[in-house]
Amino acid sequence: MVTLRLEIIRPKAMKIGRYTLFGLLFLVVSMYCCTSNNKEETKNYKIIDNAIVFSEPERAEGQTSMLQFAAEPLDTVRIGFIGLGMRGPDAVNRMTYIDGVKAVALCDLLPENIEKVQKNVLEAKGLPRAAEYVGPEAYKELCERDDIDLVYICTGWQVHVPIAVYAMQHGKHVAIEVPAATSIEECWQFVDVSEQTRSHCMMLENCCYDFFEMTCLNMAQNGLFGEVIHGEGAYIHNLEPFWPYYQDNWRLDFNQKHGGDVYATHGLGPICQVLDIHRGDRMEYLVSMSTPSYNGLKIAKETMGVDTFANGDMTTTMIQTHKGKTILIEHDVYTPRPYNRLYQLTGTEGWANKYMREGFTLKGDNLPEGMVPDNEVLDYHTWVPENVKDSLLTAYKHPIIVDIEEKAKEVGGHGGMDFIMDYRLIYCLRNGLPLDEDVYDAAEWSCIGELSAASIENHGMPVRMPDFTRGDWDKVKGYKHASKYD
Ligand SMILES: NC(=O)c1ccc[n+]([C@@H]2O[C@H](COP(=O)([O-])OP(=O)(O)OC[C@H]3O[C@@H](n4cnc5c(N)ncnc54)[C@H](O)[C@@H]3O)[C@@H](O)[C@H]2O)c1
Repeated sequence: MVTLRLEIIRPKAMKIGRYTLFGLLFLVVSMYCCTSNNKEETKNYKIIDNAIVFSEPERAEGQTSMLQFAAEPLDTVRIGFIGLGMRGPDAVNRMTYIDGVKAVALCDLLPENIEKVQKNVLEAKGLPRAAEYVGPEAYKELCERDDIDLVYICTGWQVHVPIAVYAMQHGKHVAIEVPAATSIEECWQFVDVSEQTRSHCMMLENCCYDFFEMTCLNMAQNGLFGEVIHGEGAYIHNLEPFWPYYQDNWRLDFNQKHGGDVYATHGLGPICQVLDIHRGDRMEYLVSMSTPSYNGLKIAKETMGVDTFANGDMTTTMIQTHKGKTILIEHDVYTPRPYNRLYQLTGTEGWANKYMREGFTLKGDNLPEGMVPDNEVLDYHTWVPENVKDSLLTAYKHPIIVDIEEKAKEVGGHGGMDFIMDYRLIYCLRNGLPLDEDVYDAAEWSCIGELSAASIENHGMPVRMPDFTRGDWDKVKGYKHASKYD
């Protein structure tokens, strides 16, 4: 009887259950669709085959590649400087040491910042005062002048791209401090505008011009490390003493709102040059992880009165190239650590390391004859002896450094690398040569911020890196600094 009752009752219960089940299912599916639609609406990427993919807009008609682009040579490079806080005044100063340069205009939010540069840099050197532009939109008037060739941008990150785009649309070349852009969308924006206007758009990645990095690039190009298969770079710099000095708190404010490696270019730029990125290889995928924010949150709580901080104290990103090579990039601007950009190259025949100890491990066979009297002295389980290191640094000193080292050290700017960067920019513009760092470098190195944030947000999911060259990354064979003697 019990069984019968159950049998009688069960269909009824199932009937009710079926409707309930369908109803519930409908509710869950529509709720999921709703939330996933909302999710889609707020995300600018899709997940395809377990990887995050950002859209890559097609090149518009009439727009052509800027690879190896060279503009008409300029006799004098007339510059408008925008952003004269902690970084900008030194740029104006360095340029006064370079022949064929004229500081035409200065622009900042604060008139006192402009006055300091007029007095301490231009007047102090007996140079004419520059035209002045004050206020958040004043850069437009500067860009509209017809006696400026180059707009040099040293503002906070948030306004780099609007200014650069406006300048290019008004016929100016642009040089932008690092990182050039804060999002993938901004990267495409300046790539497109540069391709449309045929204006140079260079990111001012000064670490590519550091003495050790340039010497290692030269050694790599001369085969001393064999095939370079892995590179490491970083920005590890405790910014605690600097946070209060960024104009309107722009930097802490940006980091409070953005996860990911928001300042990857110092570590990445020099490695990309060694690995011939978009000159025979390309960065294809990255994965990124981040710690929670402890110190970032603490300082933001104290100074901004907020309870959240998106940027983890320590962010680690791994990148894989089309050829399968790997790059490790770290970002930590919060914890008490000695300054460190890592800069490490691992090759099949040798290794270079900049921090915390500068040196090499090499197989003696690759060294020029006579550099090591007895090759057996080189034990490639450890560092080459100091005298061999010194001989290498002299023998492989990059030809550009050989030319300009003394003056670079005299003018300074991070030990001279900033001067070499400006010197090369002006040299290329005056000789009508392709720049050392093109618009695609600017995009590839700057896009790491948003890409790594997307990976972190998805528990370290791989992210496909956009190809800003739109398929042209293998057309140029090998990285090269242009020379008027080529
Ligand atoms: N390559 C390097 O080694 C290095 C070192 C330091 C800073 N930087 C970069 O330099 C840039 C500036 O950094 P900083 O430390 O000088 O910051 P900062 O806050 O000291 O200076 C930014 C300046 O830009 C001005 N500014 C902001 N918006 C403006 C606008 N709309 N028009 C005109 N001026 C405007 C501000 O008034 C301020 O004087 C950043 O991109 C930073 O990442 C690079």
